[in-house]
Amino acid sequence: MARPLISPSILSADFARLGEEVRAIDAAGADWIHVDVMDGHFVPNLTIGPGVVKALRPHTSKPFDVHLMIEPVDPFLEAFAAAGADIITFHPEAGPHAHRTVQAIKALGKQAGIALNPATPAKMLDYLIDDIDLVLVMSVNPGFGGQSFIASQLRKIEAVRKMIDKSGRQIHLEVDGGIDHDTAALCVAAGADVLVAGTATFKGGPDHYAANIAALKGAG
Ligand code: DX5
Ligand code: ZN
Repeated sequence: MARPLISPSILSADFARLGEEVRAIDAAGADWIHVDVMDGHFVPNLTIGPGVVKALRPHTSKPFDVHLMIEPVDPFLEAFAAAGADIITFHPEAGPHAHRTVQAIKALGKQAGIALNPATPAKMLDYLIDDIDLVLVMSVNPGFGGQSFIASQLRKIEAVRKMIDKSGRQIHLEVDGGIDHDTAALCVAAGADVLVAGTATFKGGPDHYAANIAALKGAG
């Protein structure tokens, strides 16, 4: 089975040493850097904004995989693009015009992703699939790291994999939440090619990052 790309979520990093942490996961084999942006409104937690993304940009050349859990989305796209985001993913529930938001991300020269909450059906993608670069299946309810994987999302991963294959387009299928060695293997078997991992990457501290990331890749 193909080895997945690993996108460590810096939500689980030491926020007092974020630049150092990003360099450490880069050196440890992270493929992308997952940045969880929360607004205390769309989700019940507050994290970081474009200023932090900009400050981190010089610390790695790996793609910044920016997951926006904010409402509204559109007024902030330009700031995240300018700060150095490579992939910008948003939740269609966070605004009335998901198609317009995708077009706005593409117009900024960035890759566009759609995040599906656990209760959001794959069908949401029907009229977006021809324009997007990534689908993010949330395997926890967004807002916090360290939650348990919701097994029903495996069926959604399978459904999204079929839609992507049918489209014939190059679209990443990323899974986010509760990823560990066991759930990683289930997600890859269901069709995922990118795994977000916060807790599982950062557990044990910097000396363990390389082994943690290798274990997740090996689960594929
Ligand atoms: C949840 C975030 C996730 C989260 C993953 O809202 O989108 O990226 O940090 O954390 P773990 O891997 O600890 O479940
Ligand atoms: Zn995330």
